[in-house]
Amino acid sequence: MNTVDNPNKDSGKEKKERPLVSPKTQQLFDKRARAEAGGGPERHAAQKAQGKLGARERIEMLVDDDSFEEIDALVETRATDFGLDKKYMAADGVVTGFARINGRPVCLYSQDFTVVGGSLGLAHAMKICKAMDMAITAGVPVIGLCDSGGARIQEGVESLGGYAEIFYRNVDASGYVPQISAILGPCAGGAVYSPALTDFIFMVEGTSHMFITGPDVVKAATGETCDFETLGGADTHARLSGVCHFTAGSEHDCFRQIRELLDFLPQNCREKPKAVMPSDDPKRESDILERVGELEPKKAYKIHDVIWEIADGHQFFEVQRGFARNIVVGFIRLDGESVGVVANNPQVLSGALDIDASEKGARFINFCDSFNIPLLTLVDVPGYWPGLEQEHGGIIRRGAKLLYAYCRASVPKVTVVLRKAYGGAYDVMSSKHIRGDVNYAWPCAEIAVMGPQGAVSILYKAELKAAKDPEKRRAELVQEYVDKFASPFQAAKRGYVDEVIEARKTRPKVIRALKFLKGKKVTRLPKKHGNIPL
Ligand code: HXC
Repeated sequence: MNTVDNPNKDSGKEKKERPLVSPKTQQLFDKRARAEAGGGPERHAAQKAQGKLGARERIEMLVDDDSFEEIDALVETRATDFGLDKKYMAADGVVTGFARINGRPVCLYSQDFTVVGGSLGLAHAMKICKAMDMAITAGVPVIGLCDSGGARIQEGVESLGGYAEIFYRNVDASGYVPQISAILGPCAGGAVYSPALTDFIFMVEGTSHMFITGPDVVKAATGETCDFETLGGADTHARLSGVCHFTAGSEHDCFRQIRELLDFLPQNCREKPKAVMPSDDPKRESDILERVGELEPKKAYKIHDVIWEIADGHQFFEVQRGFARNIVVGFIRLDGESVGVVANNPQVLSGALDIDASEKGARFINFCDSFNIPLLTLVDVPGYWPGLEQEHGGIIRRGAKLLYAYCRASVPKVTVVLRKAYGGAYDVMSSKHIRGDVNYAWPCAEIAVMGPQGAVSILYKAELKAAKDPEKRRAELVQEYVDKFASPFQAAKRGYVDEVIEARKTRPKVIRALKFLKGKKVTRLPKKHGNIPL
C-alpha cells in the first residue's frame, strides 16, 4: 500500500481527517515547507526586530485573501563557488508568483532578506524574470517587494548578468504593463536601477534605503559624512531627489497605498482604467471655487482645495507629494473615471516652473499617456523660475521635457486656466496650440506674455523715468495693461480658450468635456520613436 493515511478508514463518521497523502506528495510538502521556512526562525526574528515583515507575510498582506499562487518555490542555485553548493538557500532568496489585488490579477516577487540577505544570484534573477515575462504575457501589472543586499557576491558576474536581464525586461514592460516597486529594506549599487526603471517607487520610513554607494564609500571618495537615512532614506528620496513617489509610515500602510494606486490604473496599455460606480453628483457646483476665483491676483490659495472641489468625493491620490511642490500631480476620479491631474501650486515658488517641476510633471504625463488615463491641467503659472542655478542646471534642456510630454500625449487633455498663464509657461501647460482638446479659463484668468508690473517696466521705461510722479504713472499704466491684456478675453477672442466658464461650474464642465472626448484617437507620423530631451 502506497498511502500513508486512509481518509476513508472510518467512513460513516462525521470526520475532519487529513486527506489522502501519497509519499510523493509528502515529499513535495516537505520540500515546500523547507522553501517556505526561508532563512529559519533566528533570521526571521532578526528581521522582525528591525521592524520588517517576512517575504511571504508581505505578499499575504498585499494581495487579496487566499489569492497567491507561488511559482518556482523549489528553484535552487546551481552556483558552486564559495561553498554555495553545500548551502541550502530557500527559494533562492525570492518568493515569486501571481495573485489578485482588488480582484484583478498581478504578478509579483518578494525578496527574502533572511536568505543570504536577499542577495541576487542567477537563479534568483531568473525567477524574477519569469514572473515579469508572465506579467507581460498576461498583460498584468508587476509588483516588486525589494529587500536585498544586492548582487550575490559569491556568484560574481552571473549576478550582474541577472540584474541586466531584469533591467532589460523593466524597459520592455515599460508603458506596456504598470510596474511598481516597494523598497522595504536595503537597495544599493546598480540594484537601484530596476526600481528606477519602474513607474512608481514606494519607500517605508526608517527601514528603506536606496543609494548607489554607501556612507563609507561616500566618505572615502568625497570626505562627506552621512548616515543611511540622510543618504538614501524615504524622506531624502521623497523630498530632495524625487526618486521615490510615495512614502509610508509602515509596511502595512505601504501595501494599502499600493492597492489604492492600482485601482486607478488599467491592467495594461491596451485597456482603459477601471471605472467605478460614480460616488458624486457630476453636476455639482462649488462656492469654494467661485471664492478662489474672486481672490486678489497676488493672494495664494491652496491648489489642493481646487482639486478636491473638482474631484469625485473630494478625493485626490497625490503622487510625489514632497518633491517639487510647485507642481502637483496625482489621480482623481471624475464621474467614476480615472483622471490624471497636473496643477501649478501658487503656494510654492508662486507656482513657477523649474527643473524639478518640469521633470516631475513630464514623467507623470508620460505615465498617464502610456496607460490611457486622460489629463486635467489646472493652470496658474507666472512663468519659469529665474536664476543662475536653474540656467546652469539645464532648465532649457530639462524644462523642455514637460513641453515634449504634453505635445506627445495623445490621451484626452482638458485644461482650465484658473488665474495666471504667462509667457512660455502658458504655451507649455497644455495650451490649445500644443493640442489641448478642450481649454477653459475662469473670468479672473490672465493670459499674457508677462505680468502687468514686468510688462509696464519694459514698455514704458523711458516714460516712467521722465514722469513727475513715477509711482502714480506706473499705477495708471499697470491698470491700462490689466484692462487690456490681463484677462482671458484676448485669448477667447482668438479661440485660444474654447470658453470662459464660471469657476463654480468647473467640475460639471470638465466632466462633460472628458465624456465628449472618450473616443479620441490620434494618428502620429510614422517614426521609430521621438527623441525626448534627456
Ligand atoms: C552575499 C550577502 C550580501 C551580498 C548581504 N549578504 N549582502 N551575501 N552577497 N551582496 C549576507 C551577509 O553576508 C549575511 O550573511 C546576511 O546576508 C545578512 O547580512 P548582514 O550584513 O548581516 O545584515 P545587515 O547588518 O542588516 O546589513 C545589510 C547590508 C549589508 C547593509 C545590506 O549586508 C551590506 O552592506 N551588504 C552588501 C551590500 C552591497 O554592497 N551589495 C553590492 C551592491 S552592488 P550571514 O550568513 O553572515 O548572516 C550591486 C551591484 C548590482 O548590487 C549591479 C547591477 C548592475
